[in-house]
Amino acid sequence: METVSFVDMVDGNQGDYELIFTEVAAHKERHLADQLMDTLRSMKGPTFGYRIDRYRHSLQSATRALRNGEPDEMVVAALFHDIADPIAPENHSAVAAEILKPYVDERTHWIIRHHGLFQGYYYFHHLGGDRDARDLFREHAWFDDCAAFCAEYDQNCFNPDYDNMALEDLEPMVRDVFGREARFPMVDLA
Ligand SMILES: [Fe+2]
Ligand SMILES: [Fe+2]
Repeated sequence: METVSFVDMVDGNQGDYELIFTEVAAHKERHLADQLMDTLRSMKGPTFGYRIDRYRHSLQSATRALRNGEPDEMVVAALFHDIADPIAPENHSAVAAEILKPYVDERTHWIIRHHGLFQGYYYFHHLGGDRDARDLFREHAWFDDCAAFCAEYDQNCFNPDYDNMALEDLEPMVRDVFGREARFPMVDLA
């Protein structure tokens, strides 16, 4: 495989970086959707005491969004809203939102970014916290949208009897959304 001319990045030239970015883009096109779906599959198993695992929870969330007539990117956002649970349990909303950010609009990003806090409405008070902690964002334009996301596609998605769709049924949507041109032209300008 062709490689760059440099050892230290400071010595790189335009051709070097064009090579790298071409390779990175091709790799993303071939593997990003599969990598994300594999991560989702890795969530099969542990239930933490819920009646279903995080894999089925995610499928249930996406299925409910789809059956409620949501656009594709919201269905995909629902599918991946907890994708960061295995690697960022303390801040999974922020990490999932950042994964989605280049491929979804600002509203969808904001909803996923804040869903953990908004979801706290259903349980923070049982653990000595404030269930209304989300009121910090009460005046925000997307407060109601995030609250609705949690009400309709999260807090109610632990049902073992729900007939969720299979990941294979949702796969074309996943490939379509993550195959979109990123909203940000350069790495880490987001
Ligand atoms: Fe979550
Ligand atoms: Fe969730």
